[in-house]
Amino acid sequence: MAFPAERPRRLRRTEALRSLIRETGLGPSNLIAPFFVSEREDRREVGSMPGVFQLPVEAAAEEAARLCALGIPAAILFGIPARKDAEGSGAWDDDGVVQRALRAIRKACPDMALIADACFCEYTDHGHCGVLRGREVDNDATLANLRKTAVSLARAGADIVAPSCMMDGMVAAMREALNAGGFAGTAIMSYAVKYASAFYGPFREAAESAPAFGDRRGYQMDPANAREALREARLDASEGADIILVKPALSCLDIIYAVSRRLDLPVAAYNVSGEYSMIKAAARLGWLDERKAAMEMLTAIKRAGASMIITYWAADVCRWLGGT
Ligand code: PBG
Repeated sequence: MAFPAERPRRLRRTEALRSLIRETGLGPSNLIAPFFVSEREDRREVGSMPGVFQLPVEAAAEEAARLCALGIPAAILFGIPARKDAEGSGAWDDDGVVQRALRAIRKACPDMALIADACFCEYTDHGHCGVLRGREVDNDATLANLRKTAVSLARAGADIVAPSCMMDGMVAAMREALNAGGFAGTAIMSYAVKYASAFYGPFREAAESAPAFGDRRGYQMDPANAREALREARLDASEGADIILVKPALSCLDIIYAVSRRLDLPVAAYNVSGEYSMIKAAARLGWLDERKAAMEMLTAIKRAGASMIITYWAADVCRWLGGT
């Protein structure tokens, strides 16, 4: 049976019909809002990310409460410390900016799921994601710091810790440290599949984390590789990851699809800064419609197999779906 008997357009005639056959729904319940928590006193808009702010701890807690009231279930926190050093020791300081923000947000909205990004690039004076030996990041020395960081973040109230430094063995190290520290119930969302991507550019302005020399290709993945993504995901799953994250999202829809089909863990996707900024820029020029482009992009990420999405549009999605 084919045309003229088959006419897919019959079910596209009205919005009611389209809604009946819609396969992918996008709502606030699977969105995670990123926060850049700063040790400065003032809020600062990120130049390359209009609508995104670096926030002091108290302002972050207020903003989280607002998002929680809109129905956003989760926040992921990045810290901008006042001081940086060679090892990035601010990351495991119990009084560090993310630790303080975790406590403040927990108080302001007790029910929100709090995710703490665990990486060192925002805390090191050289901007790389771990301890340097020469010009390379020392994997195992970084794992020792990651252990301390995981426990400190869990102690401050993180429900989920999210290692994003792409060190080998990072999930096993964190799982072991969390269990030993009495945090067997703290989950790990592993940035298992993180490509060395140009789309992180605006984030590095937001998080003040650009590497002082070189790039991250010695630890993040080559965008040319897909089979390696499955290997990374499988390894992190076997080390005890609870959620596998793929990043970036838009240029990795095939990877999200493959990981979600091959593994039985929930898959998260990071709709990264560059994916946000390029739509913002084009919208400002009047070249495309921000709302439609963002919703299409997020729906595609979901359709590819992500069960949750980290996105800078989290609050906007609530507003758009609410019809305003
Ligand atoms: C830290 C980290 C980065 C992002 C999330 N965690 C930047 C990087 O690896 O350079 C990027 C997120 C975004 O672009 O929105 N390692």
